[in-house]
Amino acid sequence: MRHFLSTRNLSSTSIFHILNKAEELRLQQMEIPEQVFAANLFFEPSTRTKMCFHVAQKKLGIETLDFHMETSSVTKGESLYDTAKTYEAIGAKLLVIRHQMDNWVDGLIPNLSLPVINAGSGKGEHPTQCMLDLLTIHQEFGTFTNLNVVIVGDIKHSRVARSNAYALTTLGANVYFAAAPGFEDDTLDFPYISIDEAVEMCDIMMLLRIQHERHTVQQYDSTSYLVQFGLTKERESRMKDHAIILHPAPVNRGVEIDTELVECQRSRIFKQMENGVYTRMAIMIILLKEWGYYNEAKTNKCQ
Ligand code: CP
Repeated sequence: MRHFLSTRNLSSTSIFHILNKAEELRLQQMEIPEQVFAANLFFEPSTRTKMCFHVAQKKLGIETLDFHMETSSVTKGESLYDTAKTYEAIGAKLLVIRHQMDNWVDGLIPNLSLPVINAGSGKGEHPTQCMLDLLTIHQEFGTFTNLNVVIVGDIKHSRVARSNAYALTTLGANVYFAAAPGFEDDTLDFPYISIDEAVEMCDIMMLLRIQHERHTVQQYDSTSYLVQFGLTKERESRMKDHAIILHPAPVNRGVEIDTELVECQRSRIFKQMENGVYTRMAIMIILLKEWGYYNEAKTNKCQ
């Protein structure tokens, strides 16, 4: 694995390599003694992904080169490509990139000589979010085979839906979508069911935020959206005993989910965030090793 850009062609072997490495890391502390610089280039806002990478880099002993778009030369018109080439030139050995374009990876990867991690590409993909979702599911169920996963919400504008739908299918789960009219994505070939069907048949309900920033007009009033299409307490009461709730966050409390359910017994939303640190550590180690920038033999393992 030379980059981590999409789950579309990711094999189950590669996925389990990441998940197993993440679990290994969760259970021990590791350090990289050699100096490695990683640049986190976030052209869109982020709390979880950016900070998970930051914590993961600290835990691995990787030096983080920060980037603030509003004080960078992007304000003078510099492109993503030239920004990335600049960080490469000054010694970065890994780039973590979030950008609003769906397909930014296409023009960038052929011209860079370092590993790149997709931390969010417009409405395209969010593969590291997917890995932490998969780890959370696997910790709960120990398998993916024949699990019913319903991805609920603004499918059309969601990079999380796309990455998860690809990888969960690869792993043998049954993937369904539930979306309000106008939020369907006809580029993804998965069956649609209603939220009321979803709550009764799902093992995992993966809720999505309404991506207001990608809409041209507001399509739904928040309160009526929850009642018509969201996870209310009444709907939650009809879920199977073992069923869990995931959400990549940030959560629009009271819109796609009743605010009291965000931290309910079924919710794994904050567990997902914790797992985000370990999955991102795993992905960075795997890529840096592949490129010869990480020597596991030099790792100090604390018992
Ligand atoms: N889930 C997620 O990507 O959150 P952030 O936008 O805060 O990184």
